[in-house]
Amino acid sequence: MSDNQSTKRLWRDVRVFDGHNTLPERMAVIVEGERVTNLTPMSRLDEALASECREMGRGGVMTPGLVDCHTHLVFGGGRADEFEKRLEGASYEEIAQAGGGILSTVRSTREASEEELFEVAVPRLQAMIADGMTTVEIKSGYGLTVEDELKMLRVARHLGETLPVRVTTTLLGAHALPPEFQDDSDGYIDLVCHEMIPAAAKQGLVDAVDVFCEKIAFSVAQCERVFQAAREYGLPIKAHAEQLSNLGGTTLAARYGALSADHIEYLDEAGVAALREAGSTAVLLPGAFHTLRETKLPPIAALREAGVPIALATDANPGSSPIFSPTLMLNFACILFRLTPQEALAGMTAHGARALGRNELGRIYVGGPADLCLWNIDTAAELAYAVQAGRLKQRIFRGEVSHEN
Ligand code: NIG
Ligand code: FE
Repeated sequence: MSDNQSTKRLWRDVRVFDGHNTLPERMAVIVEGERVTNLTPMSRLDEALASECREMGRGGVMTPGLVDCHTHLVFGGGRADEFEKRLEGASYEEIAQAGGGILSTVRSTREASEEELFEVAVPRLQAMIADGMTTVEIKSGYGLTVEDELKMLRVARHLGETLPVRVTTTLLGAHALPPEFQDDSDGYIDLVCHEMIPAAAKQGLVDAVDVFCEKIAFSVAQCERVFQAAREYGLPIKAHAEQLSNLGGTTLAARYGALSADHIEYLDEAGVAALREAGSTAVLLPGAFHTLRETKLPPIAALREAGVPIALATDANPGSSPIFSPTLMLNFACILFRLTPQEALAGMTAHGARALGRNELGRIYVGGPADLCLWNIDTAAELAYAVQAGRLKQRIFRGEVSHEN
């Protein structure tokens, strides 16, 4: 154990947002090693204990490190050309049907070596880390061959081993139909089920399996086959569902005990009920809503009423959400989806962690992991209210200060 790790570290007089709520009193927080060991109202802080600690900070707002539960941040190339086409009026679906969109990124991702993919992903991830993110989910889905999907997952794992961030990986083989399977989408699903999932599982490269259930991607029946294969390998599932239309992907995913259904702008009452019954999390992606100029709002009121946990993520990707700022999503979620600032923050902390099946993360509690952010603000709501870089005073990852401003 290093000297630093054996020392108790103390933050005084902080407003704590614990992942669900802002605690009523100003708090003292003590970290030992990688864990929070004390969380006490200032009025009850034992000064003898405090004197044993190294004081790390005073004042400000402390939140859990942000959890971004849905990203595609490993990819080759870029799609600014499509951005321009969309500004001229082309739709996301039209571009996809003409062989652009996801398939354009598939071409550049296949061409890139593992090292190149790693190198271009690092600054994206660093930007998110500097914005307070401590856990990130990274999906494959731009390889669409066994080797290229495994390559993406290895890059994601390597990022987590290299940078101060927890990375979880998701296999999204069923993201788009690759050109070599043009007239045989069931044949491609065979490949996903019989080769990709088994290989990724055996090599320990994957923590969950995802699908894109949509007219421009895969049908409910095809997604079900993918979920069955995931189940055989004991892997939890997620779905991109009800993003552009209501196909019933969410209800299917819920039947398979999905960790989450993501996007869900077109989700109906039956879909909300299915999520509630399954205990799945609804993941909102306001960056994609914004970028694609969507107008159909996800059923926030119904989700709230049903008590479905609502998570929030960047969906960072080169097409529908080229946005690498978790805190910007807090603002977008409030403005575009009318979440409260507290709901938005819970969505990027406790509920984001839940959408990854990592309920121990995204919260501040005694015994919990010391992944924390100290912000130079007075109330937690300010994080969503203003879009302003530079407010992260300290980022604490596994008990160590990884960033200091
Ligand atoms: O979450 N919806 C499908 N997949 C991604 C978009 C990927 C892309 O456009 O490259 C999404 O929005
Ligand atoms: Fe996505």
